[in-house]
Amino acid sequence: MSSSAAHPQRIAFLGTGKIGEALLSGLLRAGKDPADVLVTARRPERAAELAAKYGVGVTTNREAAKLADTLILAVKPQDMGTLIEELGPHMTSDRLVISAAAGIPTRWFEARLPAGTPVVRVMPNTPVLVDEGMSVISGGSHAREEHLLRTEEIFQSVGKALRLPEAQQDAATALSGSGPAYFYYLVEAMTDAGILLGLPRQVAHDLIVQSAIGASVMLRDSGEHPVKLREAVTSPAGTTISAIRELENHGVRAALLGALEAARNRSQELASGGK
Ligand SMILES: NC(=O)c1ccc[n+]([C@@H]2O[C@H](COP(=O)([O-])OP(=O)(O)OC[C@H]3O[C@@H](n4cnc5c(N)ncnc54)[C@H](OP(=O)(O)O)[C@@H]3O)[C@@H](O)[C@H]2O)c1
Repeated sequence: MSSSAAHPQRIAFLGTGKIGEALLSGLLRAGKDPADVLVTARRPERAAELAAKYGVGVTTNREAAKLADTLILAVKPQDMGTLIEELGPHMTSDRLVISAAAGIPTRWFEARLPAGTPVVRVMPNTPVLVDEGMSVISGGSHAREEHLLRTEEIFQSVGKALRLPEAQQDAATALSGSGPAYFYYLVEAMTDAGILLGLPRQVAHDLIVQSAIGASVMLRDSGEHPVKLREAVTSPAGTTISAIRELENHGVRAALLGALEAARNRSQELASGGK
């Protein structure tokens, strides 16, 4: 099946909430012509807001399926069924379907779209909002190299993109999908510790946040193993090793192993239709 009505480079966002808008703005900053971008929204006022802010075209889901050759589905997982039903009759198998929905396997889309439709599943994370996202990309059974490349190009406009087999999506969800939350949790707990030590909350927050930023940049840019970087601030009989002993005594490493395993298991459960 094919249709010639779609513009070769036109991308449509179906569902343009937090993740959709982050991707949309990233693509435009990366040089995409707004005339080649369409958005759909459930509420008309949201559509008008996006058109005014970004100069992109607004359309309906079914028109988007006809007009764009790349469709980015960024509605909540529970809204995906309704969206696919709407699209179904208007879809052709030459459209690339990219889903950002957590936990929905490519085979779920393939079973509901015209035979042979290329589907790519992506798990982004919230730092796409600041162009520091980590997006994990997996192709379905009809996705070819050109489709994966097209997807990578889109997600690289808001951070890093990595291809992984779909069987590893649940593990990636546990690491990078939920990952930012673990760091926020640590910052929150360490800020409390600062208050315990007598610092004003804002001071404690600023000290910890800048330390987190500095440590992250060093991890990314130095190429050093984290153990090496930690050793550089762990002098014999010093302050850091006293703190590390407490972390070990409280089983923090074991807690992290268990926590990420629990997140992976929950992701598997949700993907298989669990509540
Ligand atoms: N946020 C994250 O950290 C994160 C991370 C990884 C993956 N994801 C995935 O990204 C997807 C979007 O998440 P989000 O946080 O961006 O959600 P969101 O802010 O709620 O955005 C979803 C948008 O879709 C719109 N929508 C719903 N049904 C629609 C339909 N039939 N046609 C057109 N638009 C429709 C909603 O419109 P209304 O505003 O009018 O309801 C809303 O603006 C989810 O599937 C989620 O699993 C999110």
